[in-house]
Amino acid sequence: MNGALHTRVCDLFGIRYPIVQTGMGWVAGANLVAATSEAGGLGILAAATMTLPQLQEAIARVKARTSKPFGVNLRADQDDVDALIALIIREEVKVASFARAPGPDAIRRFKDAGVLTMPTVGARRHAEKVAAWGVDAVIAQGGEGGGHTGSVATSLLVPDVADAVDIPVLAAGGFRDGRGLVAALAWGADGIAMGTRFLLTAESHVPDAVKQTYLGTPLDGTVVTTAVDGYPQRVVRTPFIDQLERGSWPSRLVAALRHALALRDMTGTSLVQLLREGRRMRTHGDLSWPQVAMAANAPLYTRAALVDGRVDAGVLPTGQVVGAIRELPTVAQLVDGIIAEAEATLARLSPGAVRPSAVAEEVG
Ligand SMILES: Cc1cc2nc3c(=O)[nH]c(=O)nc-3n(C[C@H](O)[C@H](O)[C@H](O)COP(=O)(O)O)c2cc1C
Repeated sequence: MNGALHTRVCDLFGIRYPIVQTGMGWVAGANLVAATSEAGGLGILAAATMTLPQLQEAIARVKARTSKPFGVNLRADQDDVDALIALIIREEVKVASFARAPGPDAIRRFKDAGVLTMPTVGARRHAEKVAAWGVDAVIAQGGEGGGHTGSVATSLLVPDVADAVDIPVLAAGGFRDGRGLVAALAWGADGIAMGTRFLLTAESHVPDAVKQTYLGTPLDGTVVTTAVDGYPQRVVRTPFIDQLERGSWPSRLVAALRHALALRDMTGTSLVQLLREGRRMRTHGDLSWPQVAMAANAPLYTRAALVDGRVDAGVLPTGQVVGAIRELPTVAQLVDGIIAEAEATLARLSPGAVRPSAVAEEVG
């Protein structure tokens, strides 16, 4: 393999290739994670949409399929975060990543126990802050990705973050191939972290009809909206999203309640659970009650699409890169293809292709 592709994250995480599959709620389960780690990348389980026993089971299933390192993505504001952190430490998971910005306490607990930490940042100052807390790496995610970390383009954010911190930087937002990996390295990153590209693989559990909707989305077919839960989030633009975006807060609230009732039976989520989730969001954020009602429903909307295949009534989170993805490879095909293309790209760009002395003669 071209030495340029063996970066600091390979040594830090103990992985062959500098490729991370990010934690995606309802998507990054044991199957996808084990396949990614087996293929030489770092797979990350999405714990934010799992109960504690579900996470325990998912960790066991990953370990049954691979002995390679993997990670867990968690929400540091979850009610059961203490038990979650204890489980990750007990299971000797290699890396913890975060669905929302973690606090220094969570970082310290992981660090003391030898679990590596890797928050996602959308600005240089966030990277500097978490680096000062002692995190081991950061994912710098540009606006092409999920939208929740800000709108600055990946091509501008990654060099800015890489200049600001000494720890390894994973570039995220808009990556899907070997050319992107080489671009990320050129911008000063140590590798790439991808969500949408891994969602669209054979091993991801998303129902086929939903994968086809993603595959049919053009480059301008996504939108960053706050209509789902009050926070900016990039989603596939569907008629359901248009309806949410057009509505006033009261009409969205009515729509949210109607949805909650309609989806309740399908997903097994009780109203009590919804209310509890709403109260938690109000405690941790500064949302109004109508926003809380919407926000409490948001996981249901996403679950309706990604688990139950309800494109008509669900929300499809995505990166903009979805518009450039047209096939569903296996994870091994994807990872091997990225590395092969990165090597070919490096060879094409290599100064070895033009003898330096020839350049000197020409210039001289
Ligand atoms: C379906 C989906 C679900 C996601 N869920 C989470 C999550 O639970 N936690 C998190 O930190 N990020 C989540 N993300 C964001 C991704 O981890 C990642 O940062 C983003 O997808 C990277 O951009 P890309 O899609 O262009 O590769 C999600 C993204 C998608 C597409």
